Amino acid sequence: MEKVIKLHDRNFKVMIPADKIEVAVSAVADKINADYREKKNPIFIGVLNGSFMFMSDLLKKIDFCCEISFVKLASYCGTCSSGEVTNLIGLNRDIEGRDVIIVEDIVDTGASIEHMVAELQRHNPASVRICTLFFKPNAYKRSIPIDYPAMEIGNEFIVGYGLDYDQLGRNLKDVYVVTE
Ligand code: IMP
Ligand code: MG
Repeated sequence: MEKVIKLHDRNFKVMIPADKIEVAVSAVADKINADYREKKNPIFIGVLNGSFMFMSDLLKKIDFCCEISFVKLASYCGTCSSGEVTNLIGLNRDIEGRDVIIVEDIVDTGASIEHMVAELQRHNPASVRICTLFFKPNAYKRSIPIDYPAMEIGNEFIVGYGLDYDQLGRNLKDVYVVTE
């Protein structure tokens, strides 16, 4: 029988088992290895919290010298009248002149990644490319290219392997989809 798990008020069933995720992670790592082998010490910047598991598995498959760092996009209520303000925290490396690869868990509408790229560009890196475990092309509304999507999915809501439903589910090794 199909395994169903409950997180808060919703039920989820397995959509992508761990072995399939591993194949996709290896394939995207191969592409990055081929493109960056000649570059000087690129920096991978993982976006917390969602990217922690992907970052770990991806970087074990990267075969060139590189640096690893993490940032967080923190949302807070600015004046509480003008809505939410998003801030990039934790960028503690000088990235000027460096080749940067952002590592995300999922790109949905693209609002977060667009903000992230704009923030990083202010520090004059040599290049910025985006690697994401999941990409929802039908939901994507921005124009910046998503260079290295490991897997493309529809507009369904998923959890596991770093992704959460209201902070639960990040520790699951398979990816689950919400079910009725
Ligand atoms: P975007 O700014 O619309 O691209 O959304 C990005 C953020 O929304 C991601 O970093 C996730 O935190 C969250 N998100 C979008 N889709 C999902 C999903 O299917 N499961 C879990 N989180 C998601
Ligand atoms: Mg995220």
